[in-house]
Amino acid sequence: MKNNHNFKFIDLFAGIGGIRLSFESVGGECVFSSEWDKFAQNTYEANFGERPQGDITLIDEKDIPNFDVLLAGFPCQPFSNAGLKMGFEDTRGTLFFHIARILNHHKPKIVFLENVKGLKSHNKGNTYRIIQNTLEEMGYNVYSQVLNAKDFGVPQNRERIYIVGFLDNVDFSFPKPFPKQIKLGDILEKDAPEKYTISDRLWAGHIRRKKEHIEKGNGFGYSMFDENSPYTSTISARYYKDGSEILIKQNDKNPRKLTPREAARLQGFPDSFKIVVSDNQAYKQFGNSVCVPVIKALSNQIKLSLEKPRKKYRSMELDLFNYDKYEDRKIASY
Ligand SMILES: C[S@@+](CC[C@H](N)C(=O)[O-])C[C@H]1O[C@@H](n2cnc3c(N)ncnc32)[C@H](O)[C@@H]1O
Repeated sequence: MKNNHNFKFIDLFAGIGGIRLSFESVGGECVFSSEWDKFAQNTYEANFGERPQGDITLIDEKDIPNFDVLLAGFPCQPFSNAGLKMGFEDTRGTLFFHIARILNHHKPKIVFLENVKGLKSHNKGNTYRIIQNTLEEMGYNVYSQVLNAKDFGVPQNRERIYIVGFLDNVDFSFPKPFPKQIKLGDILEKDAPEKYTISDRLWAGHIRRKKEHIEKGNGFGYSMFDENSPYTSTISARYYKDGSEILIKQNDKNPRKLTPREAARLQGFPDSFKIVVSDNQAYKQFGNSVCVPVIKALSNQIKLSLEKPRKKYRSMELDLFNYDKYEDRKIASY
């Protein structure tokens, strides 16, 4: 491992590397990444200096180098044949299966998964249950919690579920919200170019649809914010279409969309993060990505839990990131 790196990780369903950015900040070294979208690969390469490999379903687990932590923010899909076993075998035909087969082969000490909040109730709770059972079947102690970006110093209401599995008996707790006061105005650009102001036609469409929704008695339609708003709604991959989920109020003219840089800031990316794609691709990429400060807080908790004595087997050495010793620990913990 290179200097200052204390663990190795792999970055699956890597997108533009939001999770990688956070795990690198606590001393992780990325040894493999996979992402099949070429525009996301372009952004990833511009920022991390390496191009992720493509379709994970075509990558043999034996070709992935040894690592300590598997990271993945994977697309949520139903498990079609939720059989009695509700475990590894039931995940076939889904993208999660590919996470499971890589875990099963490499048995890294830690798995970290990110997903939409709805994962827990998806398919009547079966999707989450099968994921948890599969991880437990492989020996992981599984923790999960929903966290909101707005509780981590970012002006966005974004709830996501985080699932963390440890092979060892570690003392882990999820990060506590931190009370940093921030408002939308803190991340807005001073003079957003005129092209982000939406056209009369688009604005009229938003107003019409909102009226229709209100008449039908539901709360859907565009959402508007201003610089004093404590947080926006969740930015999604579809933001590029019409910006309806987050419009910024402007005096004496139509509202505007976020700029791509503002979208990046709304996900807590530093301004040094390079945006090398079209505006539409950038909106998709940041909408699909993660809130970096939340993942940083999580990766820090994971690191801390590894530095604390384990709940059991205290007499054993505590160098949990020493891969070579892993096989011994596994035997000792049975
Ligand atoms: C929710 S996004 C993850 C975003 C990422 N966490 C980030 O910070 O940008 C899921 C990603 O999985 C990618 N993906 C979906 N199927 C894939 C496959 N079979 N192989 C590789 N990547 C895939 C998508 O292109 C998408 O970028």
